[in-house]
Amino acid sequence: MSMTYLDITGVGIEFDTGGSKFRALQNVNLKMSKGEFISLIGHSGCGKSTVLNIVAGLYRATEGGVVLEGTEVTEPGPDRAVVFQNHSLMPWLSVYENVALAVNQVFRRSKTRAERRDWIEHNLRLVNMEHAMDKLPGEISGGMKQRVGIARCLAMQPRVLLMDEPFGALDALTRAQLQDSLMAIQADLGNTVMMITHDVDEAVLLSDRIVMMTNGPAATIGEVLPVTLARPRDRLALAEDPEFVHLRQQVLEFLYAKQGSRHASSADVVDSAAPRLAPVAAPERLPAGSGDLGSGSEAA
Ligand SMILES: Nc1ncnc2c1ncn2[C@@H]1O[C@H](COP(=O)(O)OP(=O)(O)O)[C@@H](O)[C@H]1O
Ligand SMILES: [Mg+2]
Repeated sequence: MSMTYLDITGVGIEFDTGGSKFRALQNVNLKMSKGEFISLIGHSGCGKSTVLNIVAGLYRATEGGVVLEGTEVTEPGPDRAVVFQNHSLMPWLSVYENVALAVNQVFRRSKTRAERRDWIEHNLRLVNMEHAMDKLPGEISGGMKQRVGIARCLAMQPRVLLMDEPFGALDALTRAQLQDSLMAIQADLGNTVMMITHDVDEAVLLSDRIVMMTNGPAATIGEVLPVTLARPRDRLALAEDPEFVHLRQQVLEFLYAKQGSRHASSADVVDSAAPRLAPVAAPERLPAGSGDLGSGSEAA
């Protein structure tokens, strides 16, 4: 057994909603080890972002708490960098300057100006964005902006990388490319990652464990599915791998059979098998993890 790195214990939260209380989470418990990649999946509104925001230190739990490497989380910090669905780059700063902002925040004292420049360029290279360093966010595509958002977080060398549906607004092909980039980077750097996703194939493709949440209110962790597929993972080969197919089936079963009744008509969780029926411009056999139905096109 590996040691606990991030420890979420007995976490519950109650929101004040104009006089009345709304209990979003109840008794959430999760231990992550260093270098582990975990996906949080569950129906829309169940409380995934709330869990992530508590780990980020943006929300304060009503009960329980989060300990990261022996230190309790009480506020946001650069050791827990967050990638949001909508990049949140500063529109008036270039790609380079957006990453520099984070790098200067973390390394102003520990790295020289020249070292920081090298480090910014290195991280932009990791996400294949070095060619667009001088562009403004408004001049690049949604997928490129997400790459910059990821570079900015990686450059902070966080203990945990928190990702809230990072590829949710991207088209299927861009999403597949970014998933592959993220897998390669994580294999290289050993990042500890907690990622929220709506995409079943994405969860299976990327994760060491899939954490499946029950519906709210008072949502909690319903089941945890270990994904023992060998790495590196190849989306084309996995699409027909019986174990991959079985794992995605288990996630679908949790979401639709066990948690599905109240949300049966909602299309918030993506089953990538479904888009084959939809008139999307996709290659013949768009491989595992790239499926997308109804979550919109790439935001420019
Ligand atoms: N700041 C807040 N104030 C009140 N209610 C909130 C707040 N943040 C989230 N909620 C509620 O908590 C529940 C879980 O929300 P969220 O974590 O955003 O769900 P998910 O990310 O799984 O879609 C929802 O019912 C949402 O309306
Ligand atoms: Mg959310």
